[in-house]
Amino acid sequence: MARAWIAGTGAYLPAKVLTNFDLEKMVDTSDEWITQRTGIKERHIAAEDEAVSDLVIKAARPALEMAGAAPQDIDAVIICTITPDNSFPSTACLVQKGLGLRPGIPAFDISAACSGFVYGLIIADSLIRTGAVKCVLLAGAEILSRITNWTDRNTCVLFGDGAGVAIVAPSPDPSRGLVASCWHADGSLGDLLIQPAGGSRLPASAETVAAGLHTIHMSGNEVFKHAVRAMSQAAETVLNQARIPPEEVKLFVPHQANIRILEATCQRTRIPLERTVLAIDRIGNTSAATIPIGLDMAVREGRISAGDAVLLDAFGGGFTWGAALVRW
Ligand code: UT7
Repeated sequence: MARAWIAGTGAYLPAKVLTNFDLEKMVDTSDEWITQRTGIKERHIAAEDEAVSDLVIKAARPALEMAGAAPQDIDAVIICTITPDNSFPSTACLVQKGLGLRPGIPAFDISAACSGFVYGLIIADSLIRTGAVKCVLLAGAEILSRITNWTDRNTCVLFGDGAGVAIVAPSPDPSRGLVASCWHADGSLGDLLIQPAGGSRLPASAETVAAGLHTIHMSGNEVFKHAVRAMSQAAETVLNQARIPPEEVKLFVPHQANIRILEATCQRTRIPLERTVLAIDRIGNTSAATIPIGLDMAVREGRISAGDAVLLDAFGGGFTWGAALVRW
């Protein structure tokens, strides 16, 4: 049974850049506060006429090219997002249509917030190992600016938009591919990071919109503590599973929510920041898109070679968390 292997990556960031200085004009904040407390300097914001499927389609083309795959080679589409174009049809179906993928292949979205890409990779691996499919188009993509409360300084400085795609295929060599993984959830903590309205519990209405209930609500301090603990534990779990010491990890690609979370996780995991993808200054927190965008940046900067141990690690709403060790 061949394991899943990442054959190609691609990313797309919308053209519009919103800097901390722009935010100073919108809410009571400062570049100094945002930089010191989060590490973020700027984030990308989707154009009014862009939806998540548009971002994925733009990220998918370079990923297919890197993988040497044609649209007809894709056997399944998995889109990890909490900001789909519509509740239904799924964004995956819209991407299938937009990219001209084969009619009839399975296409579905998964909702695991910032952990979406790690969850999606584990699902893709299971499908590939069982022989159900060969080639999966896996994307993490978000337009968080559409569910951000632009009058709340506690949250509006944090998030950004973007998409990252991985073409996941059977490993060409038994020593390469997804060698260890873990995925977890704890729904009892879900209220700490939530979009309260817009679903079947509290459908969108004039009242919910006026109260800002269709936007992201977060207890930042609580989430912070859980994120550091969960990401460190997940990293340790997969390194133990793979029997790889931290020194052997060539590149660490953690979810980017706050530079202080990254520093604390790196310290606990004993992986130096020099071997870690740090993109938070440029992209902010892009939820499920963060890891595939970070992976694509690293691949295109020549930071990953065949056979390297690459550690992915995420934490997000749900709560959900998980990690994956990939031999490139
Ligand atoms: O991706 C999913 C996971 N998400 C995360 O992991 C996010 C985790 N949380 C965090 O990254 C941090 O908790 C935040 C960046 C959200 C907040 O940082 P903090 O150091 O925990 O700040 P705080 O919430 O304790 O607020 C400290 C002060 C408060 O003022 P007072 O009450 O001490 O007077 C806030 O009102 O900073 C104030 N503050 C701001 N000041 C200027 C909060 N946001 C801002 C702001 N500009 N944008």
